[in-house]
Amino acid sequence: MDTPSKQTLTKLLHQIDRLSVDEAILLLADNYPGKITFSSSFSFEDQIITHKILHNKIPVSIFTLDTGRLFAETYSVWSSTNTRYQTNIKAYYPDHTPLESFVLEKGPNSFYESVKNRQTCCAIRKVEPLKRALSGNAIWITGLRAEQSAARHDLQPLEWDETNQIIKYHPLLHWTTEETRTYIDEHNIPYNPLHDRGFVSIGCAPCTRAIKAGEDFRAGRWWWEDNSKKECGLHEQQHIITETSL
Ligand code: ADX
Ligand code: SF4
Repeated sequence: MDTPSKQTLTKLLHQIDRLSVDEAILLLADNYPGKITFSSSFSFEDQIITHKILHNKIPVSIFTLDTGRLFAETYSVWSSTNTRYQTNIKAYYPDHTPLESFVLEKGPNSFYESVKNRQTCCAIRKVEPLKRALSGNAIWITGLRAEQSAARHDLQPLEWDETNQIIKYHPLLHWTTEETRTYIDEHNIPYNPLHDRGFVSIGCAPCTRAIKAGEDFRAGRWWWEDNSKKECGLHEQQHIITETSL
């Protein structure tokens, strides 16, 4: 989309600031009909947002990026979500040509061998399909929360994503881990059973492990890498919208 004016973003930010999550999603859906989409990895956070969209019948499309390396449990919760909400969540898949070349050249688990291989794998399996999923949309809803990492701490609920040329909205940005768990339980929302086994942040199976008490929220993601490298390219460039930066 064309870069929105500063006034448009400031106005939206002010409007959603006073609203509940449900009302804010509805307002954005009204303002950008047919151009608002939500990416779900079926985490706690994403399941809450899916519930809010589908339970309230808010016209927002929902997609997932099926990397081909997800946990069996993730496919199960995807399937039970389809059943519970009588829906079919759309999946985007990696382009088979670069994927076949990459696996042929490097092998199936080359992400453990170098950061470069890992980033290439994420680029093929996640980032390129994401671009296709977002194309034609004006708003991208995500389940990012500030508590998840230092890099996510300073995000604004609404921001301009220069890389993807889209407005990102993080409705649960300031929810605590406890609040998300309580909401899931109170509304009997289907969730990934790995969350009960020490997995807090769940991505691809070979690149995600459970964390121990006291460990950082994202310690189970790409645990063999330096902390500074732990993003897969979906959320790398954040452009914060504040009164002063606009
Ligand atoms: S990641 O960048 O480390 O992979 P994380 O797992 O924390 O992201 O999830 C943050 C948000 O990114 C999710 O709430 C969701 O909106 C989006 N996301 C992550 N993985 C996927 C996926 N496989 N499919 C769709 N959306 C995803
Ligand atoms: Fe590949 Fe691991 Fe990235 Fe998944 S998280 S796309 S398996 S490197």
